[in-house]
Order: sequence, then C-alpha cells, then structure tokens
Amino acid sequence: MLAFLVTSDRADPQVARLEQLLAKHGYEIVGKTTIDEVAGDPQLEARRDSLVLVPSLPGREVDVEHVIRLAGEVAGHAFVIYVADEIPQAQYKALVRTGAADWVGWDSAMREIIELSQRVGSNVPTASRHSATPEAQHMVVSFLGTCGGSGNTTLALETAACLASLKGKDARSVAIVDLNFQRSAMADYLDLVPRLDIAQVVRNPQRLDRYMLDIFTSRHASTLDMFACADDGIDICAIDGGVVFALLEQITDLYDIVVLDMPPYRIPWVDAVLKDSDLVLVTGLYSVPSVKQIIAETKHLSERELAPEQVAVVVNQCKTTAFGGIAHDVNIDGVLSGRRVFYVQQDWPFALDCVNTGVSMVQSKPRRGICRDIKKIGDAVLAVRPKVTP
Ligand SMILES: Nc1ncnc2c1ncn2[C@@H]1O[C@H](COP(=O)(O)OP(=O)(O)OP(=O)(O)O)[C@@H](O)[C@H]1O
Ligand SMILES: [Mg+2]
Repeated sequence: MLAFLVTSDRADPQVARLEQLLAKHGYEIVGKTTIDEVAGDPQLEARRDSLVLVPSLPGREVDVEHVIRLAGEVAGHAFVIYVADEIPQAQYKALVRTGAADWVGWDSAMREIIELSQRVGSNVPTASRHSATPEAQHMVVSFLGTCGGSGNTTLALETAACLASLKGKDARSVAIVDLNFQRSAMADYLDLVPRLDIAQVVRNPQRLDRYMLDIFTSRHASTLDMFACADDGIDICAIDGGVVFALLEQITDLYDIVVLDMPPYRIPWVDAVLKDSDLVLVTGLYSVPSVKQIIAETKHLSERELAPEQVAVVVNQCKTTAFGGIAHDVNIDGVLSGRRVFYVQQDWPFALDCVNTGVSMVQSKPRRGICRDIKKIGDAVLAVRPKVTP
C-alpha cells in the first residue's frame, strides 16, 4: 500500500509521527513536496487504494482549494486526507463532496487516519468515513423497548456493533442514534464521549448540515459512529418531530445502516419514526407480563399500518439449558406464535463486565452464546430489503 506524504517539512515532529504511523500500518511512504507533483504520478495511477496525506502546519498552511482540486483529480485512485487544526465550513463541504477526501484535526489525526486507511484498504466506500456505499440502500432499524431496563439499548448497540464489524464486501457504514435525548447512557456503554447537542438542533434545525453532524459524531474504533446526547436536562417536549426528522434525514443519508434506540415514552413523533423504519424490533423479557406488553406493542404497530414483515420481536435475558441453548417455555412461546422472534440469552457477569469496561460484547467475545444470538439479529437486518426512497 502506498501513502503519498505531501510536505516540504518531513522533519517536523508532527509530520514525522504521521509517517511512523503509516509505516507501522504497512504503508510504503512516497514523499512529495508539492500537491502538483501527486496527481500525475504513475505509481498512483496504477492503483486504487493509495492514501494521500496533506498536512497543514502552523505558519506553513496548505491552501485547501488545492487539496479539493487534488481530490477531484485522484478520485478513484486514492483517498486524500487533509490534516489541519481547522477548516472553513464551506471548504469542508466541498472537500467531502469530491467523494475522495476528508479532513482530520491534528488532535485526533493518529486515530482517524488509521480508521480512514482501513476503509480505503478494505474497499469500503472511500467517499468519507461514514458515507454510504453507492450501491447500498440506506436502511433504518428501530429497537423499541416495552419494559424498562430489559436491555433495549444493549440489543441496539450490540447489533450495530456486530454490523459495523463486517469486513470486505459485506462491510457497511453503520451509525447508532440514541433517541433518548433526555437521559442517554449509550455512550458510556462503549466508553465514548456523547457529542450530540440536540438543543442546538432544536434552536435551528435548518442549520444542521454534514459539518455540524461531524461535530456531533462520537466515533468508536470499530468504525461504528454514535449520535448520543450528553445529559443536559433538555425539555423533551421542546423536541418536536421536525427536529427529529431533520436529524435522522441527515444521518440516514450518510450511512448504509442506521440503528435507532427508541425512547421508552410515547411522544408524538415516535410512531412516525417507527413507520418509516425498514425493520422494528420490539424488545422485552422472556416472562408472561413482558410478552403481553410485546404483543400489545406489535398490535399497536399493525394498527399504525406497519407491515408484518416490518416487525419482529426480541426476547432478551432468556435462561439457558445445561447445553447452553435457550430454555424455552411453551406457554410464552405459544403467546408469541405467528411472530418472528429472536431469543437472546442472559449472561449477567459478561454483560456487566462489558458495560463496566466500556467494550462491546460482540466485538470482544463474538463466539459467546449471547453474541451468537445477537449476530442472528444482525443477519436478519442484513436480509431486509430497504424501502425504496426517492
Ligand atoms: N442478555 C443480557 N444478559 C445479561 N445482562 C444484560 C442482557 N441484556 C442487557 N443486560 C444488562 O442489563 C442492563 C440494562 O440494559 P439496557 O440499558 O440495555 O436496558 P434498557 O432497556 O435500554 O434500559 P432503559 O429502560 O433504562 O433504557 C445493562 O447493565 C446490560 O448490560
Ligand atoms: Mg435504554
């Protein structure tokens, strides 16, 4: 793999660190002193997976317009990463619009460059860290809990993590959105800092664009992107459907799969979001009262004209047999008959350990029973044919 490093100052300590990082990840470095030397390079033209790094240093700033032009010229052969402390909004938009470039700040450069390079190397869409593959349709999957604390957030998050871990031709760009704007614990589950400032969107939904969305993104090392609010005590009634749809429209445009953790309360926009989802997973526990709630919810959804194939059930925290399978209860299964049901086993020590250390269950121990159960949900998501959107 080739990485073109465009700088007149390879001795600068920050640039030297970038070079070391790329070399460590198997890149052969090709030094160039000016942007103009890159586009016509025969080594670059012969390949489709090169990186071009353009570091902008204080006092020796690179003109972003030149970087935008370069990205247009090398699109299809290379992915350009502009490293700078800041970039004006309009130029950032123009840069990512080329489909062959992105900007990273110096403070997060080391992590983000490797994430971007992995996407380029695995032939995942190169347009930007989180843009959708051109041929893939955008899909929205909603997790709707019917019983507090039963694991709705865990199931949504782990399914999203499972989908984000797919590699090669199966790779998808995946985002998870915590629609519990008032009190979100999701970021903690993966030891991330929540960045979504919903109050800012409420103040001016029209201002929401890709640049702002980038600022609102918490990026997990596994390539899963998260949109979750810090607990700032926002009045939930101030968030109307217009705000939620403005946010979701922008996000679904950027990712192949968007997983939603729905709020536990029935605020007016919830039904509309569910109706627009390609798949709704109604979650609860494997107990008589909880399954009754699940059935009531699925009836409610069918009254809202969601098609039967648009809805499935996940019962969580099921007991297991001595052989590790789900310990089925014929009475409960009877109540659920006729519905598509996924069973996820209970695994207290492991689940607790993962939330306490901020790691994903499916990414840390994919072979564990609970993770295999969650993978089946991920497989079902991949099998969904998304609704055609104009
Ligand atoms: N299958 C499982 N086995 C063991 N523990 C689980 C399982 N699923 C979830 N948990 C644990 O249950 C706790 C609550 O999970 P979670 O926050 O996902 O529930 P929730 O339904 O989203 O809660 P809330 O109603 O507060 O939003 C977490 O500590 C999580 O690790
Ligand atoms: Mg939750």
